[in-house]
Amino acid sequence: MKPKTIIEPFKIKSVEPIRFTTREEREKFLKDAGYNPFLIHADDVLIDLLTDSGTSAMSAKQWAGIMDGDESYAGSKSFYHFESVVRSITGMKYIIPTHQGRAAEKILFTIVGGPGKYIPNNTHFDTTRANVEFSGAEAVDLLNEVGKHPEIRADFKGNMDIEKLEAFIKEKGVENIPLCMITVTNNSGGGQPVSMQNIRETKEVCKKYNIPLFLDACRFAENAYFIKLREKGYEDKTPLEIAQEMFSYADGATMSAKKDALVNIGGFLALNDEQLAMNSRNMLIVTEGFPTYGGLAGRDLEAVAQGLLEIMDEHYLQYRIKSVEYLGEKLLAAGVPIIEPPGGHAIYIDAKRFLPNIPPEQYPGQSVVCELYLEGGVRAVEIGSVMFGKYDKNGKFIPSMMELVRLAIPRRVYTQSHIDYLIEVIVEVYKKRNNLKGYKITYEAPMLRHFTARFEPI
Ligand code: F0G
Repeated sequence: MKPKTIIEPFKIKSVEPIRFTTREEREKFLKDAGYNPFLIHADDVLIDLLTDSGTSAMSAKQWAGIMDGDESYAGSKSFYHFESVVRSITGMKYIIPTHQGRAAEKILFTIVGGPGKYIPNNTHFDTTRANVEFSGAEAVDLLNEVGKHPEIRADFKGNMDIEKLEAFIKEKGVENIPLCMITVTNNSGGGQPVSMQNIRETKEVCKKYNIPLFLDACRFAENAYFIKLREKGYEDKTPLEIAQEMFSYADGATMSAKKDALVNIGGFLALNDEQLAMNSRNMLIVTEGFPTYGGLAGRDLEAVAQGLLEIMDEHYLQYRIKSVEYLGEKLLAAGVPIIEPPGGHAIYIDAKRFLPNIPPEQYPGQSVVCELYLEGGVRAVEIGSVMFGKYDKNGKFIPSMMELVRLAIPRRVYTQSHIDYLIEVIVEVYKKRNNLKGYKITYEAPMLRHFTARFEPI
């Protein structure tokens, strides 16, 4: 038989209880947290969809790897295991472990960034943008037009706008663009994939101007599976073969292993350029650690190596993509506006259409996030004007392009009944949407303000 029900391709060996709270308790917790879910104690959350980063359930084999880790300061066997697995997927010559993705970004952009430089990307994730800007360089998003419209269904809404990229290179000058980046899948744009054709075409433009192409590869396996499902010519290829082809067009990659390597901490910088690798290792020694552990323990490197093998399993990827799609389609059926089609690691509620009466300067996404917590103990994150809103020289508010609420699904953590409960909560909040209020910011930090900002309902 060809089963219709796609099941979790694992059984559960170890469990962690979740705590139920009352609405009155949650009202207090939320107020104490300044209406910012980042500041709520995780113990007071029932279903935690703040992030899919570092929240994966590790496998028995990963835990065995943890026990087996070699903690030698230099030349640890766990490093060589990690290096060989990363190399087998990326094909890159130099593999530099870092404690997470942003550490790889920090090293890379400290070396290649700086004032007067520009980094194009389909869409920078917030830490990537912050690291580019911290170096003095400018981070520029050149997402394809279709990716900017939440309600349009298209296969590869994460694609780079190739024409804009070429025009941008001509305008700013090759000498000012040390590298070009593509984020797979495009997290800030809805977890939408990038096609192989688009990666190839981006590479062709980069090659023409002699600009290195880097992948922000956090969710490379999910992207590879979307290519298998949606792009002609890839139906019969394995996720590994597709990933290898994706990386073959890149000259380097930054990776947060906290996503598609199924670990709680880890990352790497993969490079082909020897001089850049030498400079990066020198920076690594100053900021992270010796090149064979780079801010991690030997045991962490074992867990990453094993996780990278497990993520390529087709049963896993089918379950992963289908279970996120299940959530998205049920919400759409109930009328809840989301970015279509459902993304790889998360569903993004379109708060602009969910709460059309709350203007961007009153943070409609934050309003939805707060109500999800109050209603059902669900923690989500705003990806809109709280995260990306700015002020111009005169202090005038410039809203984000989109007002989204991300429901990021941790890998291998929640079962279908958790998801069914979640759907119930969201639909209930949607029914009450006319009663929701906007928010104002009462405190904000100068950078990455969403992590620590405090709010008050209006
Ligand atoms: N790039 C992308 C596309 C990301 O999504 C993240 C992290 C990073 C880089 C940085 O990696 O956290 O290991 O330093 N995203 C997490 C999220 C935090 O919730 O989406 P990191």
